Amino acid sequence: MRAGKIKIADCSVAAIKIFIFPVHEKARKDFAERFRCNSVKGVGMAVKLEKHLSEIYNAMRTSGLFLTSGSSRVNTTTMSWGTFGRLWSRPTAIVPIRSRRYTYGLIEELGAFTISVPRKDLMKELAAAGALSGRDHDKFSELHLHPAKARRVDTYIVADCGLHLECRVVYKSSVVPESLNPEISKEIYGKGASPHTMFYGEILDLYET
Ligand SMILES: Cc1cc2nc3c(=O)[nH]c(=O)nc-3n(C[C@H](O)[C@H](O)[C@H](O)COP(=O)(O)O)c2cc1C
Repeated sequence: MRAGKIKIADCSVAAIKIFIFPVHEKARKDFAERFRCNSVKGVGMAVKLEKHLSEIYNAMRTSGLFLTSGSSRVNTTTMSWGTFGRLWSRPTAIVPIRSRRYTYGLIEELGAFTISVPRKDLMKELAAAGALSGRDHDKFSELHLHPAKARRVDTYIVADCGLHLECRVVYKSSVVPESLNPEISKEIYGKGASPHTMFYGEILDLYET
């Protein structure tokens, strides 16, 4: 009886080794290879993003962030919605900008934007940047904010902030209000408000100043 059990066990182990293990081993190798390829691009940036995610989300929730675009005429605006993660093997920021904003045209034209995260009290400046339009205001000079040249894209950062992300637009898509949950659609786009365009920005640089 005991010998029989051993035999069955031996057979099972042999079967695993011969039939199952190679399949799993191949899957494991394929998976490792695929993961390695996926992870190589922008891995340093992804790690940095992960490190600063809670700070970014916290600022979005409590004060807002500066989103800057434009090169010949630089303009900054306030944003408090957006999402940060990983798409197409790249660290990515997705920002929703309504098509009526001056900022919208600047991002369309340049194909890039920066995000600056405040590390000191800039509530007054954020409130004003989120109320005035760059169409008729030079917000940097009126709000005494300091632009500094971005490193990787042809626009500026808000130097008064301590953390910056530089993004190039790799994809965009406009919200179709009819495809959105009716309750949210009514709340956000109900009174003739222009729909948002989601700009997907590959994060090319992320640094503290
Ligand atoms: C806290 C806060 C958050 C905002 N977030 C967004 C946003 O995520 N997307 C957007 O299109 N507008 C947002 N706005 C509104 C714009 O900042 C505002 O309309 C601004 O005047 C647009 O400036 P511009 O015409 O220079 O682009 C926000 C405003 C505030 C005050």
